Amino acid sequence: MHTLRLSADIDGITRAATLLRDGALVAFPTETVYGLGADATSGTAVANVYAAKGRPAFNPLIVHVASITEAKRYALWSDAADRLATLWPGPLTLVLPQAAASPLASLTTAGLNSVALRIPAHPVARALLATFGGPLAAPSANLSGRISPTTAAHVTDGLTGRINAILDGGACTVGLESTIIGLTDPDGSATLLRPGGLPQNMIEDVLDAALKTPDQTNITAPGQLASHYAPNASLRLNAAEVDPGETLLGFGQAPNATLNLSPSANLSEAAANLFDHLHQLDATGAARIAVSPIPEHGLGQAINDRLRRAAAPRG
Ligand code: TXA
Ligand code: MG
Repeated sequence: MHTLRLSADIDGITRAATLLRDGALVAFPTETVYGLGADATSGTAVANVYAAKGRPAFNPLIVHVASITEAKRYALWSDAADRLATLWPGPLTLVLPQAAASPLASLTTAGLNSVALRIPAHPVARALLATFGGPLAAPSANLSGRISPTTAAHVTDGLTGRINAILDGGACTVGLESTIIGLTDPDGSATLLRPGGLPQNMIEDVLDAALKTPDQTNITAPGQLASHYAPNASLRLNAAEVDPGETLLGFGQAPNATLNLSPSANLSEAAANLFDHLHQLDATGAARIAVSPIPEHGLGQAINDRLRRAAAPRG
């Protein structure tokens, strides 16, 4: 399959929307990472997403929508959903009970009676959703188990020849996947299913309640599988010093670092650089990467979560 490279102007976006209507797969930029988009109401298109990614078919996809009005067509709404939706558009995904009359393909939600919804903030994603005029299922646009893409070049590396087009909107500003909040508990409580680009404290402020964390033995977000974000190299975290044979991925003061997530120890900058730097170090053929300690607060929680997964044993 030839993979078209589309520029993120009106022509490119119109072309991308037409392709999507025809059931094609189009990678597009969001503020978090690039998504591999498909018409969420088409079982065939969604099946092609799983195939292109080589992704286990039980993994449900995030449905991207243009507005809260549209989100309500697919999900049962609640007070907590109302509160959290004030944080949209942005790096936040809500898992809600699916509406009885939902037109989503069952494969989109992997047969679950819940649905993950997000309104992205990226102007190209929003223009694409508006032009397409429907829901887009979109996992991160990488091969299953590999690092999420934060540039069009990353998408090309993993998926060229496997998808129809890539809409090039430059580098993603957040650089971490969305925070996923589960709102399916009958008691109305909210659960942090995946830390991500929107810090936990901002969500708790809006909810005026603490988030629950999921029972680790009951994986409700299959993307949480330990080795999900693995680069080729092995990773050693919280490395105070770099050992012989290791390449250092720094954070803050790290004179020996080959790359530094943020020399000024800024967590937003580190998040935006995380996947790109892992890609770059992988491309050098580094066998062992040591990573400087990263504080476990704010976006640091999500960064460390991804790094722990990347460091987990494979297989
Ligand atoms: O920032 C992001 O979230 C990016 C961009 C493209 O939007 N997307 C992304 O998608 O990271 P993906 O497929 O790589 O991760 C989706 C996560 C998975 O962990 C999946 O298990 C979870 O969302 N998920 C989707 N639907 C769910 C549901 N109904 N219940 C529980 N978890 C769900
Ligand atoms: Mg992913």
